[in-house]
Amino acid sequence: MTDEAFSVHSVLRMSIEQEAIKTQTHSRSDKGPFDAIVCAHKQIRGYFYKLGLEFTDTGAKAFSQTEPGQFAQLDLSKAALPKTEKIPEDLVDTAHRKILLRRPFSFCDVAVEGNKTTVEILYRAVGPATLRMTTLAKGDSVSVIGPLGNGFSVPADKKTALLVAGGMGAGPLIYLAKALTTNCPRTEVFAFAGAKTKAELPFKKQMDEISQQVGFSLHEFAKYGVESQVATDDGSTGFAGPVTECSSDWLKQCRVAAGDMIIYACGPEPMLAKVAEIARDRKIDCQVSMERMMACGIGVCQSCAVECKAAEAGETIYKLCCKDGPVFDSKEVVFDS
Ligand SMILES: Cc1cc2nc3c(=O)[nH]c(=O)nc-3n(C[C@H](O)[C@H](O)[C@H](O)COP(=O)(O)OP(=O)(O)OC[C@H]3O[C@@H](n4cnc5c(N)ncnc54)[C@H](O)[C@@H]3O)c2cc1C
Ligand code: FES
Repeated sequence: MTDEAFSVHSVLRMSIEQEAIKTQTHSRSDKGPFDAIVCAHKQIRGYFYKLGLEFTDTGAKAFSQTEPGQFAQLDLSKAALPKTEKIPEDLVDTAHRKILLRRPFSFCDVAVEGNKTTVEILYRAVGPATLRMTTLAKGDSVSVIGPLGNGFSVPADKKTALLVAGGMGAGPLIYLAKALTTNCPRTEVFAFAGAKTKAELPFKKQMDEISQQVGFSLHEFAKYGVESQVATDDGSTGFAGPVTECSSDWLKQCRVAAGDMIIYACGPEPMLAKVAEIARDRKIDCQVSMERMMACGIGVCQSCAVECKAAEAGETIYKLCCKDGPVFDSKEVVFDS
């Protein structure tokens, strides 16, 4: 599919979305669509950006209660493409595709001040919609549906929480770090963030050497008092190897009982599968945030199925990533082997 605009598939998907928005507007108007105003936007480095959106009135009320791991569907069709010379070479071919569908994004922060709610989205420019997103400027308006789906649940009785992020999976886990340290002050939180290589880490830079020696690698987690370690597959920075190996090594040395721990993971599916396996072997509770292509985002189009185990042994059922997830108990997901 090279051009969404001329694809029957895409037109069908657009009808589904319009139907979904209609349904929402009539019976679930608490999810929008809302007009948010861009209040901050900066390039972190390379293809990585952070976008701040401000909601007022009903939008502010709806987003004030956002759980970490929930997401929103953004309409980026009206945003302009960057100038040709600013489009990365590997995205030139797809950049001009029309944007008919909203795109899902989760939040790396949500803050409420008076009658305004501000959300922050950490994103990577990977295609036509996110490329357009890069041209949004302060004061621009963006149509947003949300907050959608089920986020991470925070059991009060855990002594230790491990956050394991792969690539862009860091965003919702930064917001989870904030929620855990605010709402569960007795839970110790440790974060692990990995990527293939240093250039693929969605952070501006790592902290200075002294901070790293005492366990704080990333400012994004340190600001909540959360220790963090970085891992890169190619060893270009931090632990040399997959983030799953780094967190697994840490677990081997941890003296906390498995029942007192919980793991939260967000990132590419093979990474989630490995985290789920580690959690299963060690009998640690684990929640994973799954990603699927999403057309409607609200459970109407059935395009985002996640294979799950049914109660009966050997049987599988399909749940919807947008409505039943994106966060699932790792024990219920059937990962591709
Ligand atoms: C619940 C959820 C939360 C998300 N949160 C964020 C976020 O916080 N920050 C962020 O940068 N991105 C996030 N994403 C991914 C983002 O929605 C996609 O990257 C988006 O489609 C990009 O749109 P595009 O038009 O720029 O690129 P597209 O042309 O849509 O996609 C570019 C490439 O990425 C692949 N792709 C797109 N979406 C997915 C997906 N869901 N799963 C697997 N492959 C995919 C496409 O096949 C294509 O090869 C999230 C996705 C989901 C489902
Ligand atoms: S995206 Fe439509 S059902 Fe999930």
